Amino acid sequence: MRPIVALLVMLFSLSARTQIPTSTPDIDARVEVLLKKMTLDEKIGQMNQVTGDISTGTNVAQSDMMSQIRSGHVGSVLSHTNFDNKIKMQEEAVKKSRLGIPIIFGFDVIHGYKTIFPIPLAQAASWDLASIEALERIAATEASSDGQNWTFSPMVDLSREPRWGRVMEGAGEDPYLGARIAEARVKGFQGTDLAQPNTIATCAKHFAGYGFSEGGRDYNTVDMSEQRLREFVMPPFKAAADAGSATFMNAFNTLNGTPCTMNKHIQEDMLRGEWKWNGMMVSDWNSVGETMVHGSASDVVDASAKCLIAGCDMDMAGGTYMLGMKKALEEGRVTQDQIDEAVRRVLRLKFQLGLFDNPFLYLNAKTREQNLEKPEYRDLARSVAAESMVLLKNDGGVLPITPSSPFKKIALIGPYADSRGNKDYMSFWTLGLGMREYDSTKVVTPAMALKPALEAMGFEVTVTQICMDAACTEVDYSAALKAARDADLVICLLGERGLDCGESRCVSSLELPRGQETIARMVSRGNKPVVTVLFNSRPLVFPWITENVPAILLAWQPGFEAGNALVDVLTGKVNPSGKLPITFPRNLGQVPIYYNHLNTGRPQETMGTMWTSGYLDSSVQPAWPFGFGLSYTQFRYFDIQLSKSAISMDETLEVSINVTNTGSVAGTEVVQCYIHDLSADIARPVKELKGFERIKLNPGETRKVVFKLSKDDLRYWNQDIQFKADPGKFKVFVGGNSQDVKEVEFTLR
Ligand code: BGC
Repeated sequence: MRPIVALLVMLFSLSARTQIPTSTPDIDARVEVLLKKMTLDEKIGQMNQVTGDISTGTNVAQSDMMSQIRSGHVGSVLSHTNFDNKIKMQEEAVKKSRLGIPIIFGFDVIHGYKTIFPIPLAQAASWDLASIEALERIAATEASSDGQNWTFSPMVDLSREPRWGRVMEGAGEDPYLGARIAEARVKGFQGTDLAQPNTIATCAKHFAGYGFSEGGRDYNTVDMSEQRLREFVMPPFKAAADAGSATFMNAFNTLNGTPCTMNKHIQEDMLRGEWKWNGMMVSDWNSVGETMVHGSASDVVDASAKCLIAGCDMDMAGGTYMLGMKKALEEGRVTQDQIDEAVRRVLRLKFQLGLFDNPFLYLNAKTREQNLEKPEYRDLARSVAAESMVLLKNDGGVLPITPSSPFKKIALIGPYADSRGNKDYMSFWTLGLGMREYDSTKVVTPAMALKPALEAMGFEVTVTQICMDAACTEVDYSAALKAARDADLVICLLGERGLDCGESRCVSSLELPRGQETIARMVSRGNKPVVTVLFNSRPLVFPWITENVPAILLAWQPGFEAGNALVDVLTGKVNPSGKLPITFPRNLGQVPIYYNHLNTGRPQETMGTMWTSGYLDSSVQPAWPFGFGLSYTQFRYFDIQLSKSAISMDETLEVSINVTNTGSVAGTEVVQCYIHDLSADIARPVKELKGFERIKLNPGETRKVVFKLSKDDLRYWNQDIQFKADPGKFKVFVGGNSQDVKEVEFTLR
């Protein structure tokens, strides 16, 4: 059995499981016994998370870690990489603190731990839930073997904001796709039993609305209607809660005026009340303390009281609870019961993870040795990277490159042809490799893989790595120009630096950074066909390339196997099947632009039509719509067949469509099903994704794809914040992206 197949088989046995219970009678009883023995200081200590050997945020005060642990003042340590030190800390906690309560180690495992996968947004472009679950299983195996018990992942923040650096961490702009991916990630990390040594607890973050920060600026204000919040932001969180995510993290931003960390409406009323989730809520980095900077808390006592009452159990990094919680209790601002409840949730998680039964379960040097960076992990890293690449343009069938392609000499040119630093082809969120210093030889660059692969096919290949440093551009540019002139085909590799992707890495322009479109223009001057490969973490704008370059492949930040995955796609070994999980705008002025918008009373069909909703100087159409991606073959969609033309509230509608591969090579298509409610009580989006299926078709093969729609798929949050479906007419659409679709109408009675 091939390793990937073996992994998937292992995974499917995990998927067929029931949700992990967040408490069991046995665990609850043990928690109560322990709670009775704890002093107030020890309880507050359990609510305190201190930072380890790397920092992912603002400076925070740090005192002697070991003495804090010994005094029972540390419930959890985050972002600690040194394995031996973790053992020492755990020894200190279990052997030297009064009650011997083990520490829980938390870490950002965002797109792999030691084996780096494509960035989450790229993974979302694969629309392949089984592979996403499988790669989180690997990430959990590596992280747990290295002593981590808890990942601050999945980040399920829906976003329509390419300027926001963290758009790369999410699943894009759609609540349905986001929810399915959130579930897959939780299952992959947590497995069926948190006490297994190779599973870790998840943390759905950032609760909530963080992806809607104004101006795309990190940490900025978020203000939205309750309907928008419930319809777009909440579904992935709800899916993560339903899948049993052991923890949630609240967010830095204010939501409708209240900092999320002290937002009772979403944490207590919605998450714990309506959704009946009873896991543990951690703050974001010093976000308890930052309530004072927001101006919503006057001092540490006020901040502690407000955040605890709003449902925040653990204080990450800032130490505010340590400074203010005792006084908050003395002043009657919080009750002993409220503190106890938060501590219960922390302890319950530690029991669930098996830490009380064996505090060193995840700190076994032998297991670590066996489980890190296994070669077979690379197979999945490579296949998901290839599956996530999106072919945006392929005029004249320039791609794939095959032995019979009509050229002899190929030039690889660009700053990302063979880059060996800056966490290129990855992102800032690869903390398992270290902060900035890391072993870059682990990354297979495009040149490392493409040169030998293309040479083996009989091509002559040159590599011109262009430095993006101002000091060396002149020299590089002339070398590139010469290489392009000498070649018959140019592969131009452009994009973003890995270290420019992630938290606090927002941009005010969506152009390819550092004027890289010039490179594409320059290498096109020789009139040789040019294939542009983009390594990006967000939707970017590249109008000249879009207009003039015959082939564009979006590779995102593909991770360790960047080069090998690129070989697979460029040579047709893997037929591209990735589809955009987020709209690509034509220009920054269109942002926010997303497929599931409202129609307005004056929708614009043709640019320039007066008195319609548009711009004088730009089309309202995106550069590439949500769900878009080409293949080396073509798929024909036949007409949609409905099982009925009208259904009652209790019936299910079957929406069937035949799809044929009309080309000459096998290919995978993501068949997408959308609806539009034509007669709701309020305005509804022009399209809403309700289902998708990845199907593999051989040349000439036809497959019938069936989607089922019931009342549950037709419901929405109305003016009275009720989740209900209105009788009336609906459209249903099926197609290979959100724009090119077949459509029919049906009625809900
Ligand atoms: C981020 C979180 C992250 C935490 C710990 C914060 O700055 O917003 O997503 O989990 O740091 O690294």
